[in-house]
Amino acid sequence: MGERSSTSGTARGAGRGGSGELLRRLAPPALFRTAHGVSLVGDALTLLRTLPSQSVDLVLTSPPYDGQPRYGDGERYDREWFVGYFLLTTREVLRLLRPRGSFVLNYRSKRAGAERGTLQYELVLALKEQGFLFCEDFVWGKPSPPPGKFRRFLKDAVEYCFQFAKTEDWQFFPEQCLAPARWDAKDRARRRALPQNYVRVNEPSGQGRKRALAGPDMVRPSTLLLVEPEFSRNPTEHPARFPVEIPEFFVRLLTRPGDLVLDPFAGTGTTAVAAEGLGRRWIVCEAETSYARAIEDRLRPLGKRRS
Ligand SMILES: C[S@@+](CC[C@H](N)C(=O)[O-])C[C@H]1O[C@@H](n2cnc3c(N)ncnc32)[C@H](O)[C@@H]1O
Repeated sequence: MGERSSTSGTARGAGRGGSGELLRRLAPPALFRTAHGVSLVGDALTLLRTLPSQSVDLVLTSPPYDGQPRYGDGERYDREWFVGYFLLTTREVLRLLRPRGSFVLNYRSKRAGAERGTLQYELVLALKEQGFLFCEDFVWGKPSPPPGKFRRFLKDAVEYCFQFAKTEDWQFFPEQCLAPARWDAKDRARRRALPQNYVRVNEPSGQGRKRALAGPDMVRPSTLLLVEPEFSRNPTEHPARFPVEIPEFFVRLLTRPGDLVLDPFAGTGTTAVAAEGLGRRWIVCEAETSYARAIEDRLRPLGKRRS
């Protein structure tokens, strides 16, 4: 791994300089590296067990849906997989988060028969029992959800991004992801003209009115993330990619340049794309070689651009 980029070469980063070394000696074997990150092919739990405690600033992942066919081996990711395997990985996540780090879990249970699965809520409770703080349930709303034929349901337009932390002092940088204020330019001009947006002053110049701000143009975003599902070309035919805006939002909100971001169920590496683009260090792991190769294809051009 190379040295930190100019965006990440801070004194703060130097104090935690172990992560460059960490990225160099990771197992399972690296398939691909950039100056900022490494993509591994193999089992998530095996990887997590090799990482030192308190070494990661943000774990951001989207595990397989419950009931989804296992990619390639004919089995399904059933409840047992979540209870018997996934919860072992979250135990490791808690161990390796830095004290101010966060874990963002993008997940929503599927429908089964006439009911919505409840595993999403069970997982929240199980993670709290493991010792995580449950900080927030962000909602990812999809304006154009995938079509479907449902007798008793509507199109599924919502997923959750559950944020967990290790301590109450979790790091949080809303100023890094400000969003345009709700009102548009025309509305802003109208607001500025309203009498209630002026304060009276008695200036000797005779100027009796002074404009007060109608509101800043950029504001903290809300917990509703309105992002279209991933429509871009999908050469690997991966069934469940998330759009890069989702990891980008959390990387900005919960980390600073140079911090280390980890996605143990990386799929086509969207978390790595976000982290690389934003100057964070990253480690991703994917069990399926074909998806892991897509990570390389996506990251190679970005890595070159940065170096
Ligand atoms: C929902 S997908 C992640 C998609 C990803 N967010 C993206 O945008 O491409 C979950 C991924 O976890 C991988 N996976 C399943 N079991 C795994 C394991 N034990 N270790 C590592 N990866 C695993 C699957 O192959 C799948 O690609």
